[in-house]
Amino acid sequence: MLYNLKDILKIGSERGNAIAAFNIYGFEDAVAVIEAAEELDKPVILMANRDAIEHMPVDVIGMIMIHLAKKAKVPVCVHLDHATCIKTIKAAIDVGFTSVMFDGSQLPFDENVALTKEVVAMAHPKDISVEGEIGAVGYSDPSIDFTPQYTEPEEAKEFARLTDVDALAVAVGTVHRMVTQKACLQFERLKRIKELVNTPLVIHGATGVADEDLVRLVKCGVRKINLGTTIRLAFGNTLRQQFDQNPEEFDRIKLFKKCMVAVKERAKEKIKLLSLT
Ligand code: G3H
Ligand code: ZN
Repeated sequence: MLYNLKDILKIGSERGNAIAAFNIYGFEDAVAVIEAAEELDKPVILMANRDAIEHMPVDVIGMIMIHLAKKAKVPVCVHLDHATCIKTIKAAIDVGFTSVMFDGSQLPFDENVALTKEVVAMAHPKDISVEGEIGAVGYSDPSIDFTPQYTEPEEAKEFARLTDVDALAVAVGTVHRMVTQKACLQFERLKRIKELVNTPLVIHGATGVADEDLVRLVKCGVRKINLGTTIRLAFGNTLRQQFDQNPEEFDRIKLFKKCMVAVKERAKEKIKLLSLT
């Protein structure tokens, strides 16, 4: 069942849950994540980020995800993650993505508002949802040229009002691509944002969040939680074991089987944590 972000987050709000959103890099992880959601009977979000669409054209990865989402037994949203270029967003809309993120987090406030509004004007008439970002969630990799910035609650309120986005990503201490769950979250800042903003809130970089903090985020009212590195670790580490245990094996279909199981199991763990009901 293919859903847009607005409608899938509504399910999260009604149940008091957050919807897990996973970065997908190809067929194998898309299938594994959907199977995880189906086994738990929970909605899920598949996301293509910049790395994914550099590796595979946006229409190719988009069609794979959309096709699998339509066949799924649970609601699945197909989302373009962290897009900074309007042309890429147009391409994703043309393919049939049901949700797009415009990431203006490195732009001055007014420019971020203006471009996010442009995306909303392009997407909403087609029933496609839009996620914006205010503040900036940084990266653990120092080679990435990026200025992180905590979200100011008053700015979040103004941004949501001016742009009419369907979901708002905020920076409260998470960092993208952490490989340990040691992020230090500012729950007081998050609570203040939540008091001022009605738009569903999104947390990026959730691989680095401790399991008990993931539960706390959901209790604070966060409705979309982005996870990428955790399933890449599950896939990559299992692939390494497969090579070690089967040094003669060269058939990737055989090598990928256990990797897909590892991704499915990791996705299930995270979906369970975000499903309080
Ligand atoms: O937008 C994607 C996420 O923020 C993923 O972050 O790879 O640190 O879990 P992560
Ligand atoms: Zn992110």
